[in-house]
Amino acid sequence: MEHELGHVLVVGAGQMGGGIAQVVAASGRRVSLHDPYPGATGRALETMARSLAKLAEKGGPEPADVLERVSAVTELVPADLMIEAVVEDADVKADVFRQADAVLPPEGILASNTSSIPIGTLAAATGRPDRVIGMHFFNPVPILKLVEVISSLLTSAETTARVRSFATDTLGKRVIASPDRAGFVVNALLIPYLLSAVRMLESGFASAEDIDSGMVIGCAHPLGPLALTDLIGLDTTQAVAESLYEEFKEPHLATPPLLSRMVQAGLLGRKSGQGFYSYKAA
Ligand SMILES: NC(=O)c1ccc[n+]([C@@H]2O[C@H](COP(=O)([O-])OP(=O)(O)OC[C@H]3O[C@@H](n4cnc5c(N)ncnc54)[C@H](O)[C@@H]3O)[C@@H](O)[C@H]2O)c1
Repeated sequence: MEHELGHVLVVGAGQMGGGIAQVVAASGRRVSLHDPYPGATGRALETMARSLAKLAEKGGPEPADVLERVSAVTELVPADLMIEAVVEDADVKADVFRQADAVLPPEGILASNTSSIPIGTLAAATGRPDRVIGMHFFNPVPILKLVEVISSLLTSAETTARVRSFATDTLGKRVIASPDRAGFVVNALLIPYLLSAVRMLESGFASAEDIDSGMVIGCAHPLGPLALTDLIGLDTTQAVAESLYEEFKEPHLATPPLLSRMVQAGLLGRKSGQGFYSYKAA
């Protein structure tokens, strides 16, 4: 099916929104990038320029050509597709969906990059639940090929087909289908594992370095669980764990106190310069 999604509005210019804007622009589509926080879109464009320069060395597209297709916008603008990538907070996301519903044309599709919030909840904030869908990208977006496509009970087959075609044919991603359950497929498996690693560290069972080395060297994982939690962001990991706990009420999905205390202290991982490891320049 021809998806005809030529102009994409990306809302939220953090780690994920910037990466999504980059891959959409690299695919030849026009991108409008919105984030209400001062400096956020500027930082995203700088990160994009660095990432594109590295990719260009390996045969990627000319960075200037890609960046030319990205415009930072100070408010939501009409587009064929919105991809929302704001903080993992159901109220903030519902608000973005309400606003986008009022701004996008009636045929526009509203997608969320949420890691765990039910797509049905976001659809309920709009008057077009048949055109609301989950598009869950993976971090770093320009490198990792997977997109989980999550259709709610009300998402139309046409919306699902157009979004799948956009992710595969246009962005060159691999799509897996997930039901609309907290955590979808990947985080429902991954987050309990990350929480177990935090509990191991918290109880003094093993050091951070040994936990991570065990999984990297012993299981050939590219990153250990604590380094991966730092990459995802401790706040995002906690938010996903809370959604999983809310949905399934299983004790192993409860946030370990060490994780919540670190989030309270602003130790969010790579994005804040300190998490289980330090990322501050020496
Ligand atoms: N970090 C990951 O590995 C990862 C992977 C897949 C999906 N996700 C999901 O992507 C989303 C964003 O995560 P992130 O890691 O990019 O977080 P982040 O903290 O890097 O970025 C969030 C951005 O949202 C912006 N924001 C907050 N409120 C907003 C609003 N009302 N309108 C527009 N922008 C707003 C913030 O200014 C910030 O730039 C979350 O839903 C998260 O669960 C994250």
